[in-house]
Amino acid sequence: MDGRDLVRSVRMIKAVGPAQGLRSVRAAWRSRRADALALPRRVAERARVPGAARGAEPQPGGGVIHFARSSLRVRVAAGGAVFCGWDGAAPEPSYALAGACPEVDARVVLEPDTEGGWRVVSERVLVVVSRHGAVEVRTPGGAVLRRELPPRWWERGSADGTDDAAGAEGRAGRPEGGGAARWVQRAEVAADARFFGLGGRAHGPRLRDGVYRLWNTDPGGAFGPGDDPLSLTMPVQLVVADAGTHLVFHDNSWDGRVTLREGAEGAGSGHDRPGTCELRMDGGPLRYWVLAGTPARVLQGWTELTGAPALPPLWALGHQHARWGFAGQDEVRSVVAGYTERGLALSAVHLDIDHHDRHRVFTVDPERYPDLPGLARELRAEGVRLVSIVDPAVKAEPGDAVYEGGAAADAFVRDARGREVRGLAWPGESVYPDFTDARVRKWWGGLYAERLAQGFAGFWHDMNEPVSFAAFGERTLPRSARHALEGRGGDHREAHNVYGLAMARAGFDGLCELRPDERPFLFSRSGWVGMQRYGGTWSGDVATDWPGLRASLSLVLGLGLCGVPYSGPDIGGFTARPSPELYLRWFQLGAFLPLFRTHSALGAGRREPWEFGAEVLEHARTALGQRQRLLPYFETLGQLARLTGAPYVRPVWWSTPRDRALRDCEDAFLLGDALLVAPALAAGVTRRPVRLPRGRWYDTATGRAYDGPGQVWVEAPLSRIPVLARAGAVVPVAGSDGGTELEVWAPAAGRGGSGLVVPDAEDGWQRPTVERFTSRREGERVVVERRDGGAVGYPVRVRGLMDG
Ligand code: GLC
Repeated sequence: MDGRDLVRSVRMIKAVGPAQGLRSVRAAWRSRRADALALPRRVAERARVPGAARGAEPQPGGGVIHFARSSLRVRVAAGGAVFCGWDGAAPEPSYALAGACPEVDARVVLEPDTEGGWRVVSERVLVVVSRHGAVEVRTPGGAVLRRELPPRWWERGSADGTDDAAGAEGRAGRPEGGGAARWVQRAEVAADARFFGLGGRAHGPRLRDGVYRLWNTDPGGAFGPGDDPLSLTMPVQLVVADAGTHLVFHDNSWDGRVTLREGAEGAGSGHDRPGTCELRMDGGPLRYWVLAGTPARVLQGWTELTGAPALPPLWALGHQHARWGFAGQDEVRSVVAGYTERGLALSAVHLDIDHHDRHRVFTVDPERYPDLPGLARELRAEGVRLVSIVDPAVKAEPGDAVYEGGAAADAFVRDARGREVRGLAWPGESVYPDFTDARVRKWWGGLYAERLAQGFAGFWHDMNEPVSFAAFGERTLPRSARHALEGRGGDHREAHNVYGLAMARAGFDGLCELRPDERPFLFSRSGWVGMQRYGGTWSGDVATDWPGLRASLSLVLGLGLCGVPYSGPDIGGFTARPSPELYLRWFQLGAFLPLFRTHSALGAGRREPWEFGAEVLEHARTALGQRQRLLPYFETLGQLARLTGAPYVRPVWWSTPRDRALRDCEDAFLLGDALLVAPALAAGVTRRPVRLPRGRWYDTATGRAYDGPGQVWVEAPLSRIPVLARAGAVVPVAGSDGGTELEVWAPAAGRGGSGLVVPDAEDGWQRPTVERFTSRREGERVVVERRDGGAVGYPVRVRGLMDG
């Protein structure tokens, strides 16, 4: 126990009371002891590098290159994604991939190059492997996007000390999964490159020099920009440089660290220092995917590889209200009535752990919620759904129905000696389902029947890093805990990061089976690559302060670039009572993010818009009105995310990644193609600079036109945050009668514009139709047409000055 641990345990005892606090000390010792007994001891290790190349074997889509002490498989998939696997690592098994491993591109050729290495030539990228195992990914024009230096492994020395004797073929034959050998790989990128991604990071979206850990972690209290890691880490980097954009994904769920260092251009000297990225993993296979192209192209390929994002039901795009600490169903009723009386839109209320019977999952407190199905029906009649929190920890107590059912199904994680692993969570001493077992997922998925019977329409997965409170050490299961890992078997070192992902799959599949006609609504605090297949996520316990507000935006942007488009923060921050200004600015930002939800911790005050004074209420009403009006646009963006992988919320450089000033802009974002949103992220802001991509942009509040690229100052009064519309954009919005109309922002003279509408009438599984529109100027007139030549079919409202 170090000093930090000590402070944490004292804080924990204060927060949860002495009994729970002492249990958390016991839980921490128990976990430490389990690992000491069951994990392999550190012994002398030997380092290994690939050695010299010996030969290559062409295979469909690429081939295998043999080195003295390893082998490298390079395989290009039909969509252009490049797979590299060392030591026999294959693309599967994988938790990240959407389904069957993508087909290979049969046209790809492996050929020797003049330097004694090999080249894999494909339509979109060229992969050059040096004779010592460095791997370069280049554009077809030859520009280097990424240079991976030869990797290095550390392995337990064999008993006779002849570790290296196994040679390339022996290693190539070892089972996928790669075992516990630690490895490191260092890569270089262009001096001008910027890094994004790595899952949900609080201090992005541009990832500065530093070390980022790959281990899903409940920060155990409020987090702000300095905290890392958080609940949702991913070994996914999006790298944007003048030469091109690429995404690299190391398909390995073990604990690891990514050290990033941006490069520097040698002003005048001509000596650039490349950017570097070093990945150190505690074990698991060394295999990765690279996708290159424009950001839109890369995200499209990424979605093909890891799966299309689940489409939230329409109501999940509206405003949602949560709070930890509702007194009971009467209070829920009165909160909803408060929205109704004030004419404020509300689509859902979320019930936290306090609606459970003594914090036990899949139960209801009969005193505070004597008739939950009745409440759900009543609210539903007013257009408000109920969403339920679902934590994975199950109270370990004979007589508890979920525990008994799980025990009978042998569903809980066990230790190396076969005993149930006990942890500590909200209900007290708990056990944890092993979601890496298909059988257990099936059992768990069936439990949502109880939630549906209670009238819940959506699900909020929490504490699934997974969390076990501990006074010191890691707040999760022991690393030695055993997991099925889809029949391969392994321990928590490999299963930890995919625990939340596998739980999401269990919930999603269960709901699809229980309620086949409706799309599930599910979002989850923790997860991993591919979680978008099952739903979205949210910020977790973001601190109530201005840096927390900034971190909220950073998380949403970074996650979108990792393929998870639906997310949002706790509006107002989780931990304390925000000032009226901070609450309002958060609310105004949230109105333009996919998950638009107010939430707060027990004792952190309320988050209803009328709690902060009359002025805030009026301005929040405006923001809510804007959101309601943009619902058809959000609906379209959700459909487009599903079809193309493009997130709703995109960095301002999305269509112009070569614009370096935009690459560094972190305080604004594009909402789809049409809108640029520039939130107020500090106290006292009433105007702010906005960096515009090229083209004409209209301030949607004043109609004033600005021409990009470049920086302009725009008004950001307390009543609204700046939202700019791209000239020529065709934006579907809700008209005053509730029907969709097209808002068309006048194209600049001589220029055209366009927009899409993807209507979604219901919450089922219908295939969407994409309607395409164009706009152009004819003298002083703006003409809008439907691309397929049909009638426009919507009322059209032209906006923007006609002066250019
Ligand atoms: C966690 C969640 C938070 C929730 C609380 C109680 O801290 O992140 O949203 O309110 O647990 O369930």
